[in-house]
Amino acid sequence: MSPSEHRPVHVPVMPREVLQWLQLSPGLTVLDGTVGAGGHSTLILKSLGDSGRLIGLDRDPMMLRLASQKLTHSNCQLIRSSYAEASAALQQLGVPRVDRVLLDLGLSSDQLADRERGFGFDAGGVLDMRFHPHEGQPASELLRSLDQNTLEEIFRTHGEEPAAGKPVSTAEELESCVCDAVGAARNAGGRNVATRVFQALRIAVNQELQHVERMLTETLPAILKPEGIAVILTFQSLEDRLIKNAFKGHQGWQVLTKTPVTASPAEIRLNPRSRSAKLRAAKWMGHE
Ligand SMILES: C[S@@+](CC[C@H](N)C(=O)[O-])C[C@H]1O[C@@H](n2cnc3c(N)ncnc32)[C@H](O)[C@@H]1O
Repeated sequence: MSPSEHRPVHVPVMPREVLQWLQLSPGLTVLDGTVGAGGHSTLILKSLGDSGRLIGLDRDPMMLRLASQKLTHSNCQLIRSSYAEASAALQQLGVPRVDRVLLDLGLSSDQLADRERGFGFDAGGVLDMRFHPHEGQPASELLRSLDQNTLEEIFRTHGEEPAAGKPVSTAEELESCVCDAVGAARNAGGRNVATRVFQALRIAVNQELQHVERMLTETLPAILKPEGIAVILTFQSLEDRLIKNAFKGHQGWQVLTKTPVTASPAEIRLNPRSRSAKLRAAKWMGHE
């Protein structure tokens, strides 16, 4: 889909809280490691003034095209890169370290809305789910190549789907499995179980947990200035646990959020996607 055909639909999650925990002021250099269509970045830029600088990264070229339509200010640069490889991206720009890092993990509503990408269970047939069209294996191939035990493990750990256990090795089987799951969720009036199955597959296809782990252990300590702040939003408890443990388990971090910050009931009513969001912030004290 070309950017001109697509107007961003993604609504940034916890915008007020993100700005509050980032503690922005004019002149700072900020890395938005998951720039998406630039929702948070637009707000961040307003606090940085002309002397500040914003660098936006995304793994998905389509999202970068959307971001570039919105983030046209000369103090903003966009690079296609994983946040895990932020050190190399910053080196390219001659920026050794930054004052703030924002990570808003997972999927954008704009990616979900593009039916050709296969991120949602109402997708137009192709089970691709890759953030980058040439990186890794599409979901349909992964489903074909993995054995049942591995798939069950993916659905159980990445999707936290306790009912995982049904044989799923093709897109057709996944579709039927998801249909059953959607029916069960509707009957129970609960959260759509199919969402968790698709989330699990997307996380596996894009090796998202590996990128998060590398960001936490290698990248953030290498790119944050002393007393620089990282703010991370997660939408899945396995990811949140990784963040919590990394912040608590390394003496270089001073944890700013004692418990995770969640969206207000008013925001959840307006933007249901914010329901599962958890925000954690920590200050890097500078000893690796
Ligand atoms: C929730 S959206 C971000 C939305 C953005 N904060 C906004 O307000 O518009 C997450 C974005 O992160 C990107 N992404 C996922 N994994 C990534 C990675 N390892 N490195 C860089 N970007 C990544 C996705 O392509 C998606 O565009």
